[in-house]
Parts: sequence; structure tokens; C-alpha cells
Amino acid sequence: MNACIRAVVRSAIGMGYEVYGIERGYQGMVEGAIHPMNARSVSNILQRGGTILRTARSKEFMTQEGMVKAYRNLDALGIKSLVAIGGDGTFKGAEAFCSLYPDLKIVGIPGTIDNDLAGTDFTLGFDTAVNTTIQAIDKIRDTAASHDRLFFVEVMGRDSGCIALWAALTGGAEEVLLPEKVTDFDALVKRLQQGAANQKSSSIVIVAEGEKNGGAAKVAEEVKKRLPDYDTKVTVLGHIQRGGSPTAMDRMLGLRFGVQAVQTLNEGRNRVMIGIYKNEITEVPLEKAIRDADPIDLRLISINDMMTI
Ligand code: F6P
Repeated sequence: MNACIRAVVRSAIGMGYEVYGIERGYQGMVEGAIHPMNARSVSNILQRGGTILRTARSKEFMTQEGMVKAYRNLDALGIKSLVAIGGDGTFKGAEAFCSLYPDLKIVGIPGTIDNDLAGTDFTLGFDTAVNTTIQAIDKIRDTAASHDRLFFVEVMGRDSGCIALWAALTGGAEEVLLPEKVTDFDALVKRLQQGAANQKSSSIVIVAEGEKNGGAAKVAEEVKKRLPDYDTKVTVLGHIQRGGSPTAMDRMLGLRFGVQAVQTLNEGRNRVMIGIYKNEITEVPLEKAIRDADPIDLRLISINDMMTI
């Protein structure tokens, strides 16, 4: 997100605009936590995770009174255009705000590690999160292989299995369990046994946190009942996936999204989300990005099955 904030600030200044930063998203807008930014405000942030503007979930902004306050604060500073970085909730807020105040111009940028927004192949933070995840899987594999163990590794994704699927494919995990697919324990156990019969010294099962049985601990418990002799371990990776220095891919995405958002506003378009499709930067109506949840490519599971014989 910081790479993207830097790109928005510097490209907008380059085009002759005054730029303000809003602290903690919509909550800061309601409270008037809005400050001018210049080229130096975004120095030395490209390599930092998180967001220098910080973030919050704002209940107040969801009310009409909250939006009225937010609009007044923007209006007092002459702010007419907004770039909103976030996910589904951010865009829903943007749409509601635009409907109430059609004179406001808002462009959205997809920022969520879950990569679950329609209208874009990738969202900001996803690549970094997956890279963090596979580094952890590589390390876990050392113990798993040395000790002939079965590991259940829980990764983020409350509603989306995208991180889990990519982590499994690129980390060489034997199995992956997703919120989008019902877990078949009999089939899972059979494949794990088949792996052992094929001289596999270890197995790693990636479990998305939103897996319907309740995540890695619950799945491990269930599998243990069927494979009592297996030496099983559970690792929950948690919030380490949401931090850290962004990958080159994410920095590039932040740059391209940020510059395009400013250009889009400059050219008079709004109520769109900037996305990337087949490596081309695109614009998708905000409303469509919200409405159509991005379905996961379940064909990738069969590729994983092919790779882990
Ligand atoms: O950003 C989405 C996400 O990463 C989900 O996958 C996860 O469930 C959630 O955030 C956790 O965030 P928090 O701990 O802030 O609720």
C-alpha cells in the first residue's frame, strides 16, 4: 500500500494537484484527520509494509451522519477527488458516499492480501503474502522431511482460498483445503496414505483459515482419528502474512495502480476500480468489483494433485 500511496502523491503533485492524506481511512475522514502531503511525505516508504496512513474499520462512516461529517471535512479543504485503497468494504463505502454526494469523484484501488476482488487478476499485497507463506512452508518442510511428519499449515483467507492455493502450488504442498470446497476427509486420508506408499518422507497440508471444518487444528484432529500413527503437527501462520517488505511485483503493482488512479481522475472518470487484467491496467465500475465475487480457479487444485504424486 505504501508503494501505491507514494505513486498517488507524487504523480498527483506532478500533475499540479494539491494532495492530502487521510488517516485511518473513512474514520479519519469523519474525524477530520486529514493533512497535506508533499513529495517528501512519502520518502523512504516504498520498502515498508502496512500503511503509513494507517487503517480502521469505521462504524460511524456507515451512517448518514458519519458521511455528512466526512463530506464537510473534505469540503472545508476543497477536496473533490478521492483515491480509496482497500477491499470490498472500502468500495462499498465509496459507492454509498458517491451516491450521497455525486459531486465527489472516487477511484478505488484493490488492496487486500486475499486477492478476491472481481475485475482484477491481482490485488495489492497478495504477492507479498504468498511469498511470506512459501518461505515459512520451505522452513517447515525441513522439519517435516527430517522427522517424517505430517504438517497442517493454516494460512490467511477467511472467505477466499487464493493464498492457500498459490502457497500450495508454489510451496509444493501435498494437499490444500479451501473455504470454496467441501473437505472430503476420506479422499484426503487416502491421498496422504498413497503419498507414504510412494516413499514420501513428509506431507504438508495447507488449510485456509476459512476452511469449513474450522481451520487447521480441527482438520488435524479429524485426520488424526483416521491416521493415529502419523506424527502430526499444526502451524498457524497468522498475521506475519500481512506484514513485511513488499515484493517487487507488489511494488510495481502499487506504482501502476497509483499512477493510473490519478490519471483516471484527471481525465474526468470516477466510480471505477483500477485493476490489472492480462498485464494491462484496466478500469472496472466500482459496483461490479463489489457485486461479483472473484471465483477461485479450482482447476489449479487438479494441477496440485498432479504435482504431488
Ligand atoms: O485482509 C483479509 C484478511 O487477511 C483475511 O484473510 C483474514 O481473515 C483477515 O484479514 C484477518 O484480519 P483481522 O485480523 O484484522 O480481522
